[in-house]
Amino acid sequence: MTGCLTIAGLGPGSPDQITPAVKQAIAAATDVVGYNPYVARIAPRDELALHPSDNRVEADRARHALDMAAAGRRVLVVSSGDPGVFAMAAAVYEVLETDLARWRDVDITVLPGITAMLAAAARVGAPLGHDFCVINLSDNLKPWALIEQRLHLALQADFAMAFYNPRSKSRPEGFEKTLQILKSYSDGDRPVIFARAVSTSDERTMIVPLAEAQPDMADMQTVVLVGSSQTRTLSHKGDVLAYTPRSVKG
Ligand SMILES: C[S@@+](CC[C@H](N)C(=O)[O-])C[C@H]1O[C@@H](n2cnc3c(N)ncnc32)[C@H](O)[C@@H]1O
Repeated sequence: MTGCLTIAGLGPGSPDQITPAVKQAIAAATDVVGYNPYVARIAPRDELALHPSDNRVEADRARHALDMAAAGRRVLVVSSGDPGVFAMAAAVYEVLETDLARWRDVDITVLPGITAMLAAAARVGAPLGHDFCVINLSDNLKPWALIEQRLHLALQADFAMAFYNPRSKSRPEGFEKTLQILKSYSDGDRPVIFARAVSTSDERTMIVPLAEAQPDMADMQTVVLVGSSQTRTLSHKGDVLAYTPRSVKG
């Protein structure tokens, strides 16, 4: 008997930001697989097996999930935010491709979630209102030289930018270099949004001009948004907001 594998995004943190489709998939699952803090967000219940695991074992986790689905279970793999954004959906397909015959009968569905940059952007207005790009600043899975190249090209193209995994204790220098590169291209007025733990009780979100942005304003729970040359800030009802207009004059 073959079961199914659903790869779902739990959103940035708040239960309000989990989609109805993901809630249904949680209710239907027999097994939940994922990184410890994400599995901890699933309420335990009878006949639901929880399989939390450590960080950086994505391939093992994906293989385990595929094997349980092949054995007839209704398996849910959970990620935070959206599962296709630096998360488990790609990991499952990478593993699937290593042995297509072994898992050929498993039905696989990806259910989207609200990714951190969209939750963060919504908090401060609409900084991603025009063209933007998204860069993962971790060099665990790619060389730092490639990250730097992409930063230079994104700045030359005048994209607004969102940075995931900006700064960890083991690699504090990458975000410092990122800020130096940003400052070398742009005037210091460009808004930078540091959005930490968005939609959780630990949330802390601030907008600072690029000239005042400091490396220690970001950690691994922060997504960083950087405006393009067109991004503006304004004050409304005591809040500072940022938005990027929808048009660029020719
Ligand atoms: C491995 S990536 C996973 C991204 C996730 N799949 C998503 O779509 O949001 C982890 C990074 O996402 C960002 N992140 C995840 N949840 C966040 C939140 N609630 N607030 C701010 N940033 C968050 C941080 O940059 C963190 O280092």
